[in-house]
Amino acid sequence: MAEIELEPPASPGDPGDGAPTRAQRPRSRDELELEIESLAYGGRGVARRDGYVVFVSGALPGDRVRAAITRSKRHFAEARTVELLSPSPDRVPDRCDHGGEPCPGAPWQGLAYERQLAHKQGQVDDALRRIGGLDGFELAPILPAAERWRYRNKLEYSFGLAGDRGDAEASGGELVLGFHARGRWDRIVDARDCLLASERNNARRNELRDWARATALAPYDRRSQHGVLRNLVIREGRRTGQLQSRLVTSAAEIPRPPVDLHTIVEDPRASGTDGPTGALGAEYLEEELCGLRFRISHRAFFQTNTEMAESLYELALEMAGLGGSERVYDLFCGIGTLSLVLARRAGEVWGIELVDDAITDAERNAELNGVGNARFRAGDVRTGIRPLLEETGRPDVVVVDPPRAGLSKKVVRRLIECEARRIVYVSCNPTTLAPNAAQLGEAGYRLRLLQPVDMFPQTPHIECVALLERPRVARGSAPEPGTPGREAEDVPEGAP
Ligand SMILES: C[S@@+](CC[C@H](N)C(=O)[O-])C[C@H]1O[C@@H](n2cnc3c(N)ncnc32)[C@H](O)[C@@H]1O
Repeated sequence: MAEIELEPPASPGDPGDGAPTRAQRPRSRDELELEIESLAYGGRGVARRDGYVVFVSGALPGDRVRAAITRSKRHFAEARTVELLSPSPDRVPDRCDHGGEPCPGAPWQGLAYERQLAHKQGQVDDALRRIGGLDGFELAPILPAAERWRYRNKLEYSFGLAGDRGDAEASGGELVLGFHARGRWDRIVDARDCLLASERNNARRNELRDWARATALAPYDRRSQHGVLRNLVIREGRRTGQLQSRLVTSAAEIPRPPVDLHTIVEDPRASGTDGPTGALGAEYLEEELCGLRFRISHRAFFQTNTEMAESLYELALEMAGLGGSERVYDLFCGIGTLSLVLARRAGEVWGIELVDDAITDAERNAELNGVGNARFRAGDVRTGIRPLLEETGRPDVVVVDPPRAGLSKKVVRRLIECEARRIVYVSCNPTTLAPNAAQLGEAGYRLRLLQPVDMFPQTPHIECVALLERPRVARGSAPEPGTPGREAEDVPEGAP
């Protein structure tokens, strides 16, 4: 079930299309008893009241819950679970909680792992068929995760005060460092042992919480805009054992933390979200992946599940079908991880990435690994493809790995202009892959193969790799960009 908001009603009182009138609709903060029927994209439970859909966070199919409405629209409402009245008989006990609050990073932990996989597989299929209108592709069975717990190499924690409201006067509580309680921006639950993080990551967070308590620095309070400590991000090199801790604070004198290296202090108020940084230690984390060594600066993206990232890259490499001589574009290349994996089997690889620091890392990473056939360009993919085409000529294969929003229609048009034979699309959101694949389909690309990969157990997040191919065109009859070419099979042997 896609969460699609429909047109506003013709008249505010009577929508006249079977939707409930404004007076009949639940209002924000109303509490309803609901039976959960299924799961929506994004992982929320779906309940229906006389055909009116309510998306309920914190609920699973088969649950009966009391839920508070958080948003009410014409055709659907959003709600969060306040009380689990009768759990689904299929529920498995939660393993990760923080002071009695279920871990917000593991909203699907109540679903047996096999059911998580089945839902993900079904949602990928549904997205491509129903949203993308596509068929005739091979959907491979989802690749399960190597580890179901403690797989994340990066976690972000928030500072707060123990108690319900998060401000000192209201709670009088001590400083806590953990996660936002489900559906609450003003309440932080302390984390002691998060089962999504490694023991090492948990130990570092606990050590830094003890240090923060000793400094008597106050957590930042969003209502009063007072206080200092905001977030702590801990990233781990799973193979190297290195840890990188980033402390996000307001401008203040911060005593040096006990962890001597990799600590960076930022002032988010200085320029919106990311102000001047004071590195108290090494700026970079190092990690090994697919037999290569990478340096990762703190602003650069790095796949959160190191072990499954290797599987993801191997699948992308396989789908790229490289023979050693091809020109490959790696769009949205980050620090060049996938680019360097591809470069081993390609003639040349060209990466484009928005974040400057990530491109500096990518260049250093190519050097570090003695890879001479990968080059990188900093910039927006939207404006970067045409100049790259002019500089290099057409690629044989294009790999794209965009953020969850997928590709804009314009970027898809630029992709079509590349006239690559193959497009390997690494997607973290099948609902945006689907319309992108459909647009590519209109230009002659066929979706051949789709392989879901479970990078995020206990969560609804779905990763997949898709292979799209353009029919081979006869030499000398290159089609106009965006138009399907003549099938190679139609061309007689030896034709010019
Ligand atoms: C899902 S990550 C993939 C990175 C890389 N392929 C990897 O596996 O580590 C998406 C990357 O796209 C970059 N990005 C986001 N928007 C972009 C844009 N408009 N142009 C270029 N890069 C962009 C992000 O900074 C991020 O590094």
